[in-house]
Amino acid sequence: MSDRKIDALGTDPKVIDGKAFAVKLREKIARQVKQLQAERGFTPGLAVVLVGEDPASKVYVRNKGEQTKECGMASFEHKLPATTTQAELLALIDQLNKDPKVNGILCQLPVPQQIDPQAIINAIDPDKDVDGFHVVNAGRLATGGQGLVPCTPYGCLLLLKDRLGDLSGKHAVVIGRSNIVGKPMAQLLLNESCTVTIAHSKTRDLPGEVRRADIVVAAVGRPEMVKGDWIKDGAVVIDVGINRIERDGKGKLVGDVDYASAYPKAGAITPVPGGVGPMTIALLLNNTLIAACRQHGVKLPD
Ligand code: GUN
Repeated sequence: MSDRKIDALGTDPKVIDGKAFAVKLREKIARQVKQLQAERGFTPGLAVVLVGEDPASKVYVRNKGEQTKECGMASFEHKLPATTTQAELLALIDQLNKDPKVNGILCQLPVPQQIDPQAIINAIDPDKDVDGFHVVNAGRLATGGQGLVPCTPYGCLLLLKDRLGDLSGKHAVVIGRSNIVGKPMAQLLLNESCTVTIAHSKTRDLPGEVRRADIVVAAVGRPEMVKGDWIKDGAVVIDVGINRIERDGKGKLVGDVDYASAYPKAGAITPVPGGVGPMTIALLLNNTLIAACRQHGVKLPD
């Protein structure tokens, strides 16, 4: 890359290192868990439910379980067959809602087609909904209440604040309007007093919208769609996309941003992999810690 700069530590200050940020966050969580165990006598617990055999979901669930245990929390894994009925899954959710050792519940998505994902999400106790997907948590985020915030946009927000400090008055363009990333991301940025534009597949002049942005968050799931000449000089670019493509006969992971052309324009940019991706599980553990402290009526340790 032509204007790539490497500092004395051998890192490029333009590149937002989500992996390193997530490691630090998990170390902090592990310290907080130890403190809760020593001073309050409880261990936060996360239950992860996997229905079926989706290979990518299996990897995610394994990583979530491993990182939960590495942070000193209790991990409860429930693996159910692909033939599980909605009633059977709802019965398990009910049992987990009532279990005081379980402070957070996550049902890995997608679920098999006989199950309505929204019905499952909304059956989880909102105070244990560490995905932040429950309609009550979406409502709390929109109205300024104390809820649980979806992990990926929460991670993006932490990276942005770490880089920019106060976000007030910045023009943010969020590309994508999913309930999991786009909408809560826009809400979080609005709560930080950004001026927020949500762009999507029907947006008339996407390059023009992006060119006005101080902050760009791309969450559309389309490989390398956002081009460098759309990026305002110095803008901070957060790439949520993880797309597997073939290039030169090899499999490769790329984001929703065309990194090679965006890098020279951006003031800072997240790489794929190693940007937003590692933040998601770290924020899931953070949400579990927050949920556990609220359920026990104790303050989050420093
Ligand atoms: N599947 C892919 N990402 C996620 C996530 O963040 N939460 C859940 N529950 N399922 C997912």
